[in-house]
Amino acid sequence: MLEVTIKNLHSKTIHCKSKTEKLLDILLSETDWMHACGKKGRCTTCTAIVVKGKEHLSEPTEAELRFIKLGKLGENERLSCQCELSGNIEIKAPKLYQLPHLEYSE
Ligand code: FES
Repeated sequence: MLEVTIKNLHSKTIHCKSKTEKLLDILLSETDWMHACGKKGRCTTCTAIVVKGKEHLSEPTEAELRFIKLGKLGENERLSCQCELSGNIEIKAPKLYQLPHLEYSE
């Protein structure tokens, strides 16, 4: 079973049932995560900073490549609504998109 650990949400670990789920769907199964455009790859509010396990994520989609080109998605950042997992990862929620009703640890 694959695991996603959210380092700045008190290292909350979510176990995912299927490899074919998008990262955002895994996150939303046990916590809240911003996704303003409704998972369409048109905003960057679902961004996850990848701390560990970057190699366990699917190749960047066209939407992600577009944001990388525009300088709106950093080297260790992925749109969680676009990528799938093949191994365990550790991520952080960017400060800019942290939700006011959740208590982050950094
Ligand atoms: S929810 Fe908008 S790009 Fe992922």
